Amino acid sequence: MEIDKKVLQVLNITKKFGDGCPVCRENKEILIKNYCPHCQTIYACRNISFDLYEGEILGVVGESGSGKSTFVQCLYFDQKATNGEAYLSNYKGGRTNALEVSNQEKRYIKDYIMGMVYQNPFLGLKMNFSAISNVAEKLIAGGSRNVGNIKEISNNLLDIVNIENFRRNDNPSDFSGGMQQRLQIAKALSNNPPILFLDEVTTGLDLSVQANVLDLIKKIQRDLKISMVIVSHDLGVIKMLADRTLVMLNGEIIESGLTDQILEDPQHAYTQQLVHSLL
Ligand SMILES: Nc1ncnc2c1ncn2[C@@H]1O[C@H](COP(=O)(O)OP(=O)(O)OP(=O)(O)O)[C@@H](O)[C@H]1O
Ligand SMILES: [Mg+2]
Ligand SMILES: [Zn+2]
Repeated sequence: MEIDKKVLQVLNITKKFGDGCPVCRENKEILIKNYCPHCQTIYACRNISFDLYEGEILGVVGESGSGKSTFVQCLYFDQKATNGEAYLSNYKGGRTNALEVSNQEKRYIKDYIMGMVYQNPFLGLKMNFSAISNVAEKLIAGGSRNVGNIKEISNNLLDIVNIENFRRNDNPSDFSGGMQQRLQIAKALSNNPPILFLDEVTTGLDLSVQANVLDLIKKIQRDLKISMVIVSHDLGVIKMLADRTLVMLNGEIIESGLTDQILEDPQHAYTQQLVHSLL
């Protein structure tokens, strides 16, 4: 029997805004959601641990403010985790905590091993560069030098995400929301990263555009066998895409398992409420 290969192991990622106080350090029960009323510290996420396997889509669902973006941004080094470890099988044999390496090493990991599609396209795209330059720039960061190759690969990626030829020299500031997200996906895929993070990739798009972006993600995952972490507050999105799911509430994972199982037999009261609201 072939055992699934782990591409990422995450251990106890915690991010707090504020120093904490003796009261909240000793007793998390006193927190109001993620907030300490004594010292105003916000525990944005706490002890987030999970494994990500080759070729799987892991969903992360939870209400607004539950800490989803925070832990993904810690993993992508956009925020510094207060605590935690992350091991990438494609980086030093999975033996080095990637959260502790130098900025130069982090840059390397971002250019070759992980891709990110941000909730806010302004974080993922240079709005005053053409669409094709956005993709080309990422390829160059990943070491491509041959102009002909860069053009060809960029155009192939833009084909994959269905951005028409005649729009490729336009700036993403002139694109619709769905096009911006598709361009972010093309950019994130440019150096064939084994891992892709997608944060609320369809939030704010109208339903037909949402469906179109979700289909695209499914197709990419099937064709390229990338491992993905998909964050959404919409359980419908998670249901459509994710093999396994983590449910977050107030900064913590409160339930995890196969998506089908969670949908059929949710254990935690919050998850039950989520599942019922989907029916
Ligand atoms: N820079 C910051 N300073 C203080 N608190 C912050 C900061 N960034 C995030 N937070 C807090 O951390 C918590 C988690 O926020 P986060 O953005 O991770 O939630 P989310 O689950 O992604 O929500 P959404 O579904 O709305 O995107 C929230 O309470 C938020 O107010
Ligand atoms: Mg978020
Ligand atoms: Zn406190």
